[in-house]
Amino acid sequence: MGTLNDEIDPPAHPEYHQPSIPTTTPNTGAPAPVPSSPTVEADPNDGDQDDDATSDYESDVSDTTSLNSSLFHYQYENGRTYHAHRAGQYLLPNDELEQERLDITHHLFSLTLNGALCVSKLDAPKRILDLGTGTGIWAIDVGDLYPAAEVIGTDLSPIQSRWFVPHPTPHPFRVPNPRRDTYPPAHRVPSNVRFEIDDATLEWTFPRAHFDFIHARTLGGAIADWPALLRRCHKHLVPGGQLEVSEGRTDFWCDDGSLPADSATSKWLTEFRRLARPLGFDISPKLPGMLKEAGFTDVEFRQRVVPCGTWPKDPALKEIGRWFQIQFLEMALESYSLALFTREGGWTSEETQVLFAKVRKELRSNMFHIYTYTAFVTGKKN
Ligand SMILES: C[S@@+](CC[C@H](N)C(=O)[O-])C[C@H]1O[C@@H](n2cnc3c(N)ncnc32)[C@H](O)[C@@H]1O
Repeated sequence: MGTLNDEIDPPAHPEYHQPSIPTTTPNTGAPAPVPSSPTVEADPNDGDQDDDATSDYESDVSDTTSLNSSLFHYQYENGRTYHAHRAGQYLLPNDELEQERLDITHHLFSLTLNGALCVSKLDAPKRILDLGTGTGIWAIDVGDLYPAAEVIGTDLSPIQSRWFVPHPTPHPFRVPNPRRDTYPPAHRVPSNVRFEIDDATLEWTFPRAHFDFIHARTLGGAIADWPALLRRCHKHLVPGGQLEVSEGRTDFWCDDGSLPADSATSKWLTEFRRLARPLGFDISPKLPGMLKEAGFTDVEFRQRVVPCGTWPKDPALKEIGRWFQIQFLEMALESYSLALFTREGGWTSEETQVLFAKVRKELRSNMFHIYTYTAFVTGKKN
């Protein structure tokens, strides 16, 4: 269990559980069934205007790029910054607000796993690789948890804690994070963890059969050729090594008819689905089949419910919903839709902001009982 999560919010108490929702479809490769009747019970007392709810080694194709100043040239668009390395390849921003979102998302994943860092059972791993590490928060936690392991986090953007300079006025929804708040910055990263700027979609400079565990979280939409990436993961894992790909499902479900068809939220969701589908954001249901194709065995697909808002009756889901509502309304809604709607959908920045404002107002009311899932796809190399 990661140090950071222990200090943020201790979720692992006996009553903490996911309710009995059919979220797992082991070994079939199919997405878990979407419930057709209400399965997450709504709290009758929570539905008002609650605004507070608040490579080969020898390969000559090496592309590991040493950090140089050009990597810090960010692209500015609609008030947000996007990474400059292979500009345009990745749709999400990389600015302070996005980094806060990634840290809250880490907290959410941890809550849905009762405080664990992954669903894979690890046995004294020696080498761990975190692809698309983002702020590096997962790599840092796993480095603290397994001090004898060598942990490497790779990313296109130099936004890892080691280089992170805190904003003078932190975002109000900042998750307290002892590691990232440490000074000097070098102490924010355990000595067994290091970060490299690298494009995961190109040949890797790491030796074959090198890692015991490869982890990739929320890369949906960023990877054009998943089968190629999964084959690369298989090649660089030791025999017996494990892969875990986790995603937040980029869709919402509602079982009780509480989401009106004429709402701004429905309008946003319909447009988001139309524009996001070709980009493959919601990749997790296809991953089990792809892992098997890439040679993995013991492939499993698991999901955990993530409500949007404090509307569920179950206290643990209420807590997850409270954090997800903040992450989604204050951060993800814009991160995932702004570039998508303006670049791909022909929307103006102003039109998107008006729509986002309406969605925020509607969802803060907790009247729409919508939920999504965290999804975990695991496999082993024989
Ligand atoms: C949504 S963030 C997730 C960060 C981290 N995995 C987490 O869960 O906190 C996706 C990250 O993947 C990185 N990324 C996108 N495409 C990539 C690529 N081809 N190679 C390496 N990193 C990539 C982005 O820069 C971003 O930091």
